[in-house]
Amino acid sequence: MARSLLITGIGELVTNAPGQRPAGFAALDRAALVIEDGLIAWIGPSAAVPAADASVDVAGRAVLPGFVDSHAHLVFAGDRSAEFAARMAGLPYQAGGIRSTVAATRAATDAQLRAGLRRLAAEMLGQGTTTFECKSGYGLTTEHEARSVALAAEVTAEVTYLGAHVVPAEFAERPGDYVDLVRGPMLDACAPHCRWADVFCEDGAFGADEARAVLTAAAGRGLSPRIHASQLGPGPGIRLAVELGAASADHCTFLTGDDVAALASSDTVATLLPGAEFSTRQPYPDARRLLDAGVTVALATDCNPGTSYTTSMPFCIALAVRDMRMTTQEAVWAATAGGARALRRPDAGYLAPGARADLVVLDAPSHAHLAYRPGVPLIHQVYQSGESVKIKLLCAVDSGK
Ligand code: NIG
Ligand code: FE
Repeated sequence: MARSLLITGIGELVTNAPGQRPAGFAALDRAALVIEDGLIAWIGPSAAVPAADASVDVAGRAVLPGFVDSHAHLVFAGDRSAEFAARMAGLPYQAGGIRSTVAATRAATDAQLRAGLRRLAAEMLGQGTTTFECKSGYGLTTEHEARSVALAAEVTAEVTYLGAHVVPAEFAERPGDYVDLVRGPMLDACAPHCRWADVFCEDGAFGADEARAVLTAAAGRGLSPRIHASQLGPGPGIRLAVELGAASADHCTFLTGDDVAALASSDTVATLLPGAEFSTRQPYPDARRLLDAGVTVALATDCNPGTSYTTSMPFCIALAVRDMRMTTQEAVWAATAGGARALRRPDAGYLAPGARADLVVLDAPSHAHLAYRPGVPLIHQVYQSGESVKIKLLCAVDSGK
């Protein structure tokens, strides 16, 4: 029998009012909500609440939709802290660093990869992320890419095929053959586990024609495109994302006027990943230019061992507010509703009757504290489909060592 839970005493309830035009942040003060059957059943003022089977008073805390992390690379083995340390001492980031993770990932057992993946997924949930995407891209053989997407599918519905992450060393002399593998047999093996396909479109990785060939083949297998674009320098990736009707162009660190105009006239979301700029000492993307042009912006972690080894959406919100001049409201919207747009998930990123009860209770009175109190563990409780998540237990998942 369905049991209902009343959450009352909410100081600020961020709803992102789904019907609002133009879309954007919306919140109610002194609110309450009822969860039933994993869904939001009612939202209204704290002063007039309906009866429920159980109730929790959150004593003035803020409640937000669960974060939607639309860009993460979680299936890998190995450690690149020495590369990070060297970078902080002055070395530049190079896309080729990916190959050291590829070697460690190929050498790992399924159990080791699964344990690492589950540890990161638990870290995410404990920090309020209730929906996340997960890419392959550290296997780069048919066998190892298929293993990566199968493992990812154990923890999320948003699995992305990234066989075109970098050309692996054994194909260095014949990159065209690798592209043929990625859009042929490797795609065939991976497609059944995936919803998305991605390409790292960048100097040192794949060019526009190669990216188009891979993403067109993937679309033929039912996988929708998304692109790593203009992370390390200006390039064709953003315009290609728009040309292909991609759900998202990710990074957008080096923007041209044509890129901004193309995004503004499309449904392609610009997904900004400030953890990568933080960890590579690159300039941050120009979020204000995108927002002022009317582009839909999402924030995500890009969690990966090379350029952004964080699972924390609150950290990314803080960076976006402090260093990218996004308002606290814009950043929270981008980390919730924006991420849902980037994953084309109409069921996530907002709170309203009928929505899935994915929500975060902050140990703070307003969403602004996510940026105002950087580095402080502000996640008081997380509900996923109406179930309260035991944060401490989940974070203790065996790390696989
Ligand atoms: O999104 N840009 C490509 N992929 C990752 C980096 C991967 C790595 O360095 O291992 C990114 O930053
Ligand atoms: Fe990435």
